[in-house]
Amino acid sequence: MKAIKVGLLGLGTVGTGVVRIVEGHQEDLQSQVGSPIVIEKILVQNKEKARSVSIDKDKLTEDPWDIIRHPDIDVVIEVMGGITHTKEYILEALSLGKHVVTANKDLMALHGPEILARAQENRCDVLYEASVAGGIPILRTLVEGFSSDRITKIMGIVNGTTNYILTKMSQEGASYGDVLKEAQELGYAESDPTSDVEGLDAARKMTILATLGFRTNVALENVSAKGISQVSKEDILYAKRLGYELKLLGIAERQDDLVSISVQPTMVKQSHPIASVNGVFNAVYVYGEAVGETMFYGAGAGEMPTATSIVADLVAVVKNLKLGVNGKQSSHAYKETKLKTDDQISSKYFLLLHVADRAGVLARITQSFAEFEVSLESVLQQPNPHNPDAEIIIITHDASKAAVQKVIETFESLDVVHKVKSVYRVEG
Ligand code: NAP
Ligand code: HSE
Repeated sequence: MKAIKVGLLGLGTVGTGVVRIVEGHQEDLQSQVGSPIVIEKILVQNKEKARSVSIDKDKLTEDPWDIIRHPDIDVVIEVMGGITHTKEYILEALSLGKHVVTANKDLMALHGPEILARAQENRCDVLYEASVAGGIPILRTLVEGFSSDRITKIMGIVNGTTNYILTKMSQEGASYGDVLKEAQELGYAESDPTSDVEGLDAARKMTILATLGFRTNVALENVSAKGISQVSKEDILYAKRLGYELKLLGIAERQDDLVSISVQPTMVKQSHPIASVNGVFNAVYVYGEAVGETMFYGAGAGEMPTATSIVADLVAVVKNLKLGVNGKQSSHAYKETKLKTDDQISSKYFLLLHVADRAGVLARITQSFAEFEVSLESVLQQPNPHNPDAEIIIITHDASKAAVQKVIETFESLDVVHKVKSVYRVEG
């Protein structure tokens, strides 16, 4: 029984988990694929660094080409991160006929089509389950589990760091700045947390989910992204009072052939299952025309959950090897991407306005909504002892994004509206 030889690019959080699972579950893995799986070589930056798994030092290398050009390595697992170098290594590995498994959402969101094309030219597999929602097998579910259906909506909490921050703000009344600092100390958020808190990490994951779910090549620039750095304690307090939780949601929608993909802090009705996804957990809600509502929940990051997805991809590659069918999966993204305009994107909205506290103000505000045919679901005025302005909270019925934007623009020229404090999309 010839062993399957694997080259591992990276031995950090995820790479360490891959070593633990390949070694610890060897018997189960062999029984599924019919061959031993051996990690032949591992790329690191520093061979002398202490490791939390025991590794034969001879397996470590600081030269990526020891792995990429190794004649006996069948599969390259990329868990080192970054874009420029990893793209070069992966393209070269594929050209040399090696199969690739990666957890790299940044790379797949930006260069997925080029990498997948190179894989097909060389009859190789590229699998990337771990790149979205860590341990939740959502990519395989979209491609295989829902192959018979037409998915019309994917909503995801796909960034654990921001969900942790929003959960703490909601449950403990903490401020954004304080919880971000705590998340960094706990190692959830990066020392430079920009891509997490500004919604870029979630946008990359939504690019991948929408591409596979809608079978159309969504580009990262097709995704509008807004993060949580402007969310205040006050917004969260009002959300709760009205029966909502504030979540950073990726939302991909399809209507006929038109799609829209966005990431933004969103008010989610407390009765919706995604509202109760807390802490660093992730969840992806999928709506299919035939299946209806489904939701997938679990750990979106971390050593062992992420490694579970990586090794499951490895098993799939080796099963394909045994059957001689690597690189034969047809392209999932066969449709041209046509984006909805802001006139075609419809949703409910929450607005918090600081306005002059005098007669006729409410009438003037509601008149602006009426002018652009935005119908209101509820209007609430809250006294605020710390603010001489009145605080008006409005929830609209479904309205186009463009119409709500025009209403907000008219507020800028209304002297009675002192501040449009917050605007959020509403779901559920
Ligand atoms: P990490 O802990 O920083 O580990 C990176 C590893 O790659 C380290 O072993 C490092 O070597 C090695 N490395 C980095 N740059 C290198 C270079 N230029 N040359 C040689 N070796 C290099 O990263 P991670 O958290 O495991 O994440 C890896 C990938 O998985 C990323 O793409 C990330 O987005 C993705 N991912 C991570 C998670 C998670 O929970 N962490 C979840 C989903 C996806 P040294 O050990 O010598 O420093
Ligand atoms: N920074 C990411 C998160 C890690 O917080 O979800 C997993 O991709």
